[in-house]
Amino acid sequence: MPPPKVVLITGASSGLGKAIGIRLAKAGHTVFGTSRQPQLNEGHGTFPLIAMDVTSDASVNAAVADVVKRTGRIDVVINNAGLGIQGPAEDIAPELATRLMDTNVLGPHRVCRAALPQMRAQGGGYIINVTSVAGNFGLPYRSFYSASKAALERYTEALSTEVARFGIKVLTVQPGEFNTNIAAARLRPDAISEANKPGYEKAMSILGGSMHYSRDPDELAQVVERIIGSKHPKAAYIVAQGVQRMSIVLKKVLPGRMFERMVRKHYE
Ligand SMILES: NC(=O)c1ccc[n+]([C@@H]2O[C@H](COP(=O)([O-])OP(=O)(O)OC[C@H]3O[C@@H](n4cnc5c(N)ncnc54)[C@H](OP(=O)(O)O)[C@@H]3O)[C@@H](O)[C@H]2O)c1
Repeated sequence: MPPPKVVLITGASSGLGKAIGIRLAKAGHTVFGTSRQPQLNEGHGTFPLIAMDVTSDASVNAAVADVVKRTGRIDVVINNAGLGIQGPAEDIAPELATRLMDTNVLGPHRVCRAALPQMRAQGGGYIINVTSVAGNFGLPYRSFYSASKAALERYTEALSTEVARFGIKVLTVQPGEFNTNIAAARLRPDAISEANKPGYEKAMSILGGSMHYSRDPDELAQVVERIIGSKHPKAAYIVAQGVQRMSIVLKKVLPGRMFERMVRKHYE
């Protein structure tokens, strides 16, 4: 059995983060989850929740310092906190897009910046950034979600090349659809333009109908448990089945317009 690790999971009040926390705590790791409002989620799981808003430098720094103060180390950071967004690209105001990118891209960056000095001092660690299958292609009416997760993928690759020399392993986990609260919390524009309404509404009804194949968050937690037990984790883990997994392969092999047509047909 590998020795237990000190694990920090952002956004662990629900969904994937909560499932990962429950599984890792059960396996004997010392787990700290985060929430913007930990007081609302007391008794939510089998591990403590501390306050963190990933859009605030001060909040991120305080939470990471708290973990280090309590345990003397930080072995694993799981950048899981994130938001969805939906709406025609044309209707997404830059302010709304900025909020999304601040949470999904700069949020993980803030947490990495706060945790890296400690990981370097202790001679290593794992940083797992939760992206999405959606980061592999531009999904209609979720432009900024795809863009944020693609950005986090590239950020992760670059950071990995910089910190491997310190023994720090940086990688992504790309989930397909899992049964969580993400749809309810998605950002949305105040109004949808008339021209975009029919296409948007149809696509959203198809998206809403895909819940039947969304999966149990614990399946993803099992993958994370294996990753942190691995001395040589891969750069990216796709945790998706069926058409979601196959689309990633098709995107690589099909001509661009052919792939685009396939996506359009799916949502029409
Ligand atoms: N579910 C899926 O199908 C799916 C697929 C691909 C990728 N993902 C990714 O998986 C991650 C987890 O999503 P989920 O599906 O588990 O959604 P969820 O149930 O809505 O959980 C999202 C978590 O993020 C936290 N959060 C949101 N904004 C935050 C902020 N500014 N600062 C700190 N925490 C914040 C929330 O915590 P509080 O509200 O308590 O602060 C919550 O715990 C996200 O990055 C998402 O993009 C999900």
